[in-house]
Amino acid sequence: MTQEKILEINALKTQFKTKKGIAKVVDGIDLTVYKGETLGIVGESGCGKSMTSLSILKLIPEPGEIVEGSITLNGENLIKKTEKEMREVRGNHISMIFQEPMTSLNPVISIGEQIAETIRQHQGLGKKEANKRAIEMLELVGIPSPERRAKQEPFQLSGGMRQRVMIAMSMACNPEVLIADEPTTALDVTVQSQILKLMKNLQEKLNMGIIFITHDLGVVAETCDNVAVMYAGEIIEQSTTEELFKDPKHPYTKGLLNSLPKIYENQDKLVAMKGNIPSPNVEHKGCKFADRCPIAQPECLESRPSLLSYENGEYQVRCFVYEKEHSRKEESYG
Ligand SMILES: Nc1ncnc2c1ncn2[C@@H]1O[C@H](COP(=O)(O)OP(=O)(O)O)[C@@H](O)[C@H]1O
Ligand SMILES: [Mg+2]
Repeated sequence: MTQEKILEINALKTQFKTKKGIAKVVDGIDLTVYKGETLGIVGESGCGKSMTSLSILKLIPEPGEIVEGSITLNGENLIKKTEKEMREVRGNHISMIFQEPMTSLNPVISIGEQIAETIRQHQGLGKKEANKRAIEMLELVGIPSPERRAKQEPFQLSGGMRQRVMIAMSMACNPEVLIADEPTTALDVTVQSQILKLMKNLQEKLNMGIIFITHDLGVVAETCDNVAVMYAGEIIEQSTTEELFKDPKHPYTKGLLNSLPKIYENQDKLVAMKGNIPSPNVEHKGCKFADRCPIAQPECLESRPSLLSYENGEYQVRCFVYEKEHSRKEESYG
């Protein structure tokens, strides 16, 4: 099966001008999303996952701005689009769900009305039709007694039910791409697992491309076809999920995998390895990970490694040490 590209991001850079200088929160990112597939973006808190997703929708808060790169949806560059055109993109082509549904739901309007309103705006349906479709959507996302639930306000629902409502809303326009930014982080493990299954089901039905953002490698294993590992605004490794778990290449990825808990617990978080992500304000001459890296060489402090492709593009790694190791292997086989 040939994969069909739906969204392509090239050399994307997003920056904030701050009192402490320029914060490079997204620092030259390349990503490709295919129809019917899930691309995971994984990395510690603060590495730029949310800024990447907000950049794709051009929802970066002031004074942040995209300073470079392209975002191509169905062959059209979103960077060139006006705010009005972007609203159309957000309504009909790319949807987003966030970690905390309470902040995106209106607390005093029934969930049925909120979904119906979204449907009316984006599909131009009449009130009655939209209400009917809203109830169908609630049913689709597995909310029991959808007619009764539609009349309830968000606070009357559990966290898991609210996240289902958010999914229903984001699906209402049949998006081609769904960006899910830590959609299950606030939920307990059982509910999390149900929500992930639900998203998979909807993806199969609608052939959506999904960008799934998480700090949790366990969730990546369960959910994603491909995965990009982010560190300090950059991608440091990218491959299929299978390859990443079988044979991680970058020392940061190895560190993340080593910190995975063997048994799941409710609050499982990445047990961060020694040190912290550098602030996006800091200028780096060398590799951004060098000061935490257990195998850093002098050259790693001298210049920035690029994200290189290996094995005909099967995976990508941004690491001098890996690059050398790989070429040594090639020579000894060659
Ligand atoms: N409004 C802002 N101004 C300046 N820096 C910001 C702003 N919002 C976020 N950042 C910085 O951008 C970086 C990436 O943040 P974010 O994308 O939210 O990380 P993640 O989602 O991976 O936890 C962080 O260093 C954060 O402090
Ligand atoms: Mg985030």
